[in-house]
Formats: sequence, C-alpha cells, structure tokens
Amino acid sequence: MLKTVVCVSGGGTNLQAVIDGIGQGTITNVKIVRVISNNRKAYALERAKQAGIEAVCVSPKEYEERAQFQQAFLRAVEEAEPDLIVLAGFLVVIPPELIRRYENRIINIHPSLIPSFSGTGYYGLKVHEAALARGVKITGATVHFVDEGTDTGPILMQEPVPVQEGDTPEILQKRVMEKAEWVILPKCLDLIANGRVTVTDGQVHISE
Ligand code: GAR
Repeated sequence: MLKTVVCVSGGGTNLQAVIDGIGQGTITNVKIVRVISNNRKAYALERAKQAGIEAVCVSPKEYEERAQFQQAFLRAVEEAEPDLIVLAGFLVVIPPELIRRYENRIINIHPSLIPSFSGTGYYGLKVHEAALARGVKITGATVHFVDEGTDTGPILMQEPVPVQEGDTPEILQKRVMEKAEWVILPKCLDLIANGRVTVTDGQVHISE
C-alpha cells in the first residue's frame, strides 16, 4: 500500500476523484493516510472526514513567522510517514526542505498544459483567465513531480481539452477538471502505486 498524504486548499474535487477511484477500484494499492489543508474552511477537509480519512489544518494564520508555519506543515506531513505526497489544489509554496527530502515523491496537478500558463502567479481560475486572454484553442491539465521550481518538475501525464467559443474562465475550469484533472490524477496515482513510474534525468517513464 502506498501511504499517501493529500494536501489541499479549497473545494477538494481532485481529492474526491482520488477517494472515488480508490472506492471503485480504479486506483489500487493506495491508502490516503492524512489530508492536510492550509485553510480551515476548505470543503476538502469535509470530504476527507466523510470518507473516514484523518483531516488536519495547518494554517499560516496561526503562526507569527512563515518559518514556524513551514515547520508545523513539515511535522504534519512527516507524522503521517507518507510514501507519496499529492498536491491536489494546494496553493501554498512547499518548504524546500520537504522537496529535497521527498524527491520524486511529491506530485502536483496543474490546470494547464505545462509550460503554458504555469509558474508563479498561475493558479486556480487565473490559469484559465490567462488561457482565454491569450486565445489558445487547446488547454488541459498536467500532473508533474515537484522540484524546487514552480511547476518545473518532471512531467508525468498531460491531457488536452478544447477551448470553446463563449467560454468563461469558470466554464473552462469546469471542463478542464471534468475532462482532464479528475481523469489523470487518479491514473497517475494508480501507476505510481503499482510501480510503473520511474524518473531518470528529469524524464518520466511509464512501463507497460
Ligand atoms: C484545481 O483546478 C487544480 O488544478 C488547481 O486548483 C484547483 C483545485 O480544485 N491547482 C493549481 O492551480 C496549482 N497551481 P479542487 O480543490 O476542487 O481540487
């Protein structure tokens, strides 16, 4: 069983897709051991509780210094002794110490085809606003391993999604979630948990 910690900040629909995948058996050998949110009001915490998963909040608001928050976050992760950390809509910068300690064991879902509309400042709805402003005809989602840059780690899987006439950022976000994010994040978890993913020189290989 791949002991997995899922980090969230908001609605938690990607977390839900993973919970459902485990329940339906499309994801095997994965156990979510803890869900961590930086935001006490995140509905994702509720989703975790409803699924019987331990849900904890580590909020930067409760610490005077950023470094104290980062230490508390680190502790919350390490107490759970995870094999893998999944950032599922986690909108906080991960402490570099954690990234070094969990090299190629942290994955993130990003709502565009990286490298488009990625990096600092591109998160959530802002990504879709930028895609529409640029007038791209195809966007999508990417699952990648997390390195010390922002959205720069090895790419694991991408799924394209067409932009349609009249799309608003909200409509496009919903399509990207339904057609790409909720599909590839569960798939990637299953592949990792079943030993099919290796990373060599920054390139991800998926075995048959
Ligand atoms: C998702 O669209 C995810 O791709 C995005 O936040 C949303 C979270 O939704 N993540 C980023 O933008 C990271 N840069 P959810 O809480 O319903 O899963």
